[in-house]
Amino acid sequence: MTRAFRKKLLATTVAAAVFAPSVALAQDEQTFAEAQYRKDVMQHFNLSIKKILQNFQGNVQHPEHYAAIADIMANAATLSKAAFEKDTRSMEGPTKAKGEIWDNWEDFSGRMDKLVEDTAAFAEAAKSGDMGQIQPGFRRAVSQCKACHDLYKAD
Ligand code: HEC
Repeated sequence: MTRAFRKKLLATTVAAAVFAPSVALAQDEQTFAEAQYRKDVMQHFNLSIKKILQNFQGNVQHPEHYAAIADIMANAATLSKAAFEKDTRSMEGPTKAKGEIWDNWEDFSGRMDKLVEDTAAFAEAAKSGDMGQIQPGFRRAVSQCKACHDLYKAD
């Protein structure tokens, strides 16, 4: 057994032990790994936005969480461009990623860079604890989502 193989085996065994009962590394059977990965990265935004809106609406009171949640968004943004970089047009399986992503990679990746900038600015604003900075910072951080989805994500 090679070292690399042993390491991989160990990682797989650990993953299986930790996740098998609950998550089973949830992957839609027909979805190929790259699509699943980028969707999982995107889910960080979704889950973060839901928590922030619950706070904004006053349904829960965890204002001390804004900074940590904004950090999650900023971190997810740093993973996003690379998660989409591989051209997967020839791969079989359901995905909402349109082929135009790789036709217009410069535009697409520029939007991902902007998302990194805006979420980093939001993370800074959230550290202030000042709602006068947090709300506009949040609005700017999420202003990218729809415009990109309209162009590059199938309904
Ligand atoms: C530069 C383009 C771009 C930006 C910016 C972007 N997305 Fe996406 N997003 C996509 C594409 C393309 C997909 C489809 C991926 C696939 O199906 O393989 C997607 C998928 C998703 C999904 C679906 C995940 C799933 O399980 O099907 C969610 C949720 C999502 N994005 C949320 C967001 C939020 C929230 C933001 C803003 C904070 C955002 N996205 C910013 C391009 C973008």
